[in-house]
Amino acid sequence: MAIVSSNFSQSDSKGFKGKERLVNPAEIANESNSLKEDSVRPKSFDDFMGQSGLKEVMSISTKAAISRSEALDHVLLYGPPGLGKTTMALILANEMGVDCRISSAPALERPRDIVGLLLNLKPMGILFIDEIHRLTKVAEELLYPALEDFRLDLTVGKGTTARTRAIKLPRFTLVGATTRPASISSPLRDRFGITQRFEFYKLEELHQIINRTANYLELSLSNEASFEIAKRCRGTPRIANRLLRRIRDFALVQTNQNVIDLSLVVNSLQLHKVDSCGLDNFDRKLLFMLLNTNNGGPVGLDTLASALGEDAATLESVVEPFLLQIGFIKRTPRGRILTEQGKKHLMNEVDICQD
Ligand SMILES: Nc1ncnc2c1ncn2[C@@H]1O[C@H](COP(=O)(O)OP(=O)(O)OP(=O)(O)O)[C@@H](O)[C@H]1O
Ligand SMILES: [Mg+2]
Repeated sequence: MAIVSSNFSQSDSKGFKGKERLVNPAEIANESNSLKEDSVRPKSFDDFMGQSGLKEVMSISTKAAISRSEALDHVLLYGPPGLGKTTMALILANEMGVDCRISSAPALERPRDIVGLLLNLKPMGILFIDEIHRLTKVAEELLYPALEDFRLDLTVGKGTTARTRAIKLPRFTLVGATTRPASISSPLRDRFGITQRFEFYKLEELHQIINRTANYLELSLSNEASFEIAKRCRGTPRIANRLLRRIRDFALVQTNQNVIDLSLVVNSLQLHKVDSCGLDNFDRKLLFMLLNTNNGGPVGLDTLASALGEDAATLESVVEPFLLQIGFIKRTPRGRILTEQGKKHLMNEVDICQD
């Protein structure tokens, strides 16, 4: 096959961080404010599209807990960013009709942070901890008795006068979310009664999500336009919604209307260099690096990460999952390789690559 050469120089990676990408599945700083992510979040099981298996499990567990007037079992939600973990935690609280306290492991560094959260829980309430794999050892140890026996063991005093005081907590539900389930310690993992994994969404589901958001944004969106966005949003609702907003801007400036058809989607995404599979310069640069190393790799994760100016953990949990899912790259013990499908894609997208 013909070798497609990359236009990217090594220096392109400098200052071009994955975080700034339009197709970054992770939340961009301040995005929830500026793009009102919260406003389009589904609020109930009925509103939540796709993930049918997970939704059924959660819906049955919720109904059972409600009818027994008990707190829901602790829930661990994992999967790539932007697929609905936080949304599901909020839906659980909504469906149970209980309070939801939201926190994130990096904000719980000091013991008093987690103690404060636990002491403020309401009976049957939900405590949502995002990025739960990042909890400190101390925070985890405070959580264990809280999760198992709804008890907080506090050490009062120091040295020889130190003693433990047990404080009774109301029955509550911990909902933990993570993109890196393998990094959760096994004692913590074992304390979740329900563990559910989020999958990338199917085209039809994304089509429904996009139509729902279009409705909310008061856009008139053709069927073909909606499917084209669905094809390019990497199976991820957060990206679908973000693309839709950018296309809405484009439509407004180009046509002064809120009407979006297929050609508007194609032209607008061409401007943003998002190709027919939802890949951008960053992904294509990664694929080209593989292509240019022995015609397809293997290249180690750390080498890829440093050449792309991204950290290895982000590359592995944010960028790679979709490329693996669509079969463009493969993980091998010797590093990442580019598949025939990946090579074919680079050839097909040669125009956008050379822009
Ligand atoms: N099943 C769904 N139906 C409709 N919209 C959805 C669905 N899942 C997610 N979304 C939309 O995608 C956005 C991102 O979802 P959410 O914040 O729940 O992702 P996440 O998995 O928590 O991501 P992260 O790992 O970055 O925290 C939400 O604001 C919501 O509008
Ligand atoms: Mg989240």
